[in-house]
Amino acid sequence: MKKILIVTNWKLNGTKKTIKKLIKKYKKIINKTKNIKIIIAPPLIYLDYTKKKIKKINIELAAQNIDLHLSGAYTGETSIKMLKDIGIKYVIIGHSERKIYHNENNNIIEKKFNLVNDNRLIPILCIGENYTEYKNNQTKKICIQQIKSILKNTKKKLIKKLIIAYEPIWSIGTNKYPKPKEIQKINKYIKSYIYKKYKELHNKTIIQYGGSVNINNFYEIIKQPNVDGTLIGNASLNGKNFVSMIKQIL
Ligand code: PGA
Repeated sequence: MKKILIVTNWKLNGTKKTIKKLIKKYKKIINKTKNIKIIIAPPLIYLDYTKKKIKKINIELAAQNIDLHLSGAYTGETSIKMLKDIGIKYVIIGHSERKIYHNENNNIIEKKFNLVNDNRLIPILCIGENYTEYKNNQTKKICIQQIKSILKNTKKKLIKKLIIAYEPIWSIGTNKYPKPKEIQKINKYIKSYIYKKYKELHNKTIIQYGGSVNINNFYEIIKQPNVDGTLIGNASLNGKNFVSMIKQIL
């Protein structure tokens, strides 16, 4: 059985009460998931709280974002130094909602990616095309352009793991998604590109899929040979459904 990485992105959702409940549900499957790793990305303010709740369980945590600066007069921001301080290992970078609502472009994403990597944390890099690009058969081109521009100055030696989530922008939160076979093709293409271009990343590369993954399509998607995991938003907020979803691959 292949290794699978599931990242659950809770976005701007939750309270202490709902998080406590959700973790209780997640716990039901955690010890049965030898080949499956689960990383939760709660809202920043609940990272520490969630950390306490997952003590002694095999779940890791990711931040949904970081600021470009390490400290200083940047009201409302959180730095990589602070994440390190509370023991966080992963950071989601380049999510399309940050591009849409916070004007993050490839230049900012590249800087954030390298900041995380240089600080020996692990970025979870989201890439993907919009609907017009998808319709015009430009997905492969767009994904490779994004990877190239983001990794161009990265210190490859420092990369512990290269986690890339292929997330078509048009499928995030829309209940629309490419056919599993199309996802397989794209993930395979991305992986072979990375293998060809960066030989040193051979055993370190994980290519996930994200965008409207739900209880009905999860199995079909995850069983594709080049899908090493999924990044799940909405469907990870319903504990019962999430557990049933993961049970399909236990
Ligand atoms: P969704 O979100 O599963 O709700 O479509 C996925 C994501 O934002 O990565």
